[in-house]
Amino acid sequence: MISIAIDGPAGAGKSSICRRLAEELHYLHVDTGAIYRAVGLYMLRRHKNPADPAEVLPLLPQVKIDLQFAEGEQRILLNGEDVSEAIRLPEASAAASAVSALPEVRAYLLEQQRSLARQYDVIMDGRDIGTVVLPHATIKIYLTAAPEERARRRWLQQRSKGIGESYEEVLAAVKKRDYDDSHRAAAPLCRAEDAWLCDSTHLDFEETVAAMLAYIRQKTGAPV
Ligand code: DC
Repeated sequence: MISIAIDGPAGAGKSSICRRLAEELHYLHVDTGAIYRAVGLYMLRRHKNPADPAEVLPLLPQVKIDLQFAEGEQRILLNGEDVSEAIRLPEASAAASAVSALPEVRAYLLEQQRSLARQYDVIMDGRDIGTVVLPHATIKIYLTAAPEERARRRWLQQRSKGIGESYEEVLAAVKKRDYDDSHRAAAPLCRAEDAWLCDSTHLDFEETVAAMLAYIRQKTGAPV
């Protein structure tokens, strides 16, 4: 099985780029952030503080997450309910970041992620895929961009969905998540030593896809 691990900070475009790469390469795209978001959403709905292990951990066994793939598109089910849209709300982002800092939550979700990579050729995106989840991934890429550019992209995306946060609010949230994701004790966001760094600050979507495809094809020896 071939596995491609893509890590990087919030708003670097990982999900949409990986979706396209998976289509081109006929691999399964696994968006692991969605899994943390679903856990965070569950805790919010149960009125639990997602940062407090004493409140979160007892509820973990009640959280059943299933991923479904239709035409390469991932849908995420939380205890049978499709929450693929609900997990994109800003409060679910913050809750995801909080629960993802808990080592027990990460351990709980690890095997599910690894098992997908054993069954399928995958492009898996997240924060710790190349460092922890799939340390022996065939290819590792660390995709990033300047925080201001990532905030601008996320703000545009949110506006198109009618979410009314200001650019300053989005930028502050991006910076806070960068800080939290890279300073937590459990599996902090960092570039694996053997990951190729792709900085998309000055690249548009198509250019980033092209650069990553070229790298992947060169590494796997696939025809361009
Ligand atoms: O990529 P995203 O914004 O959907 O991720 C949501 C949160 O989950 C983010 O704060 C970081 C965390 N996360 C993680 O800790 N490990 C992963 N493999 C994926 C996401």
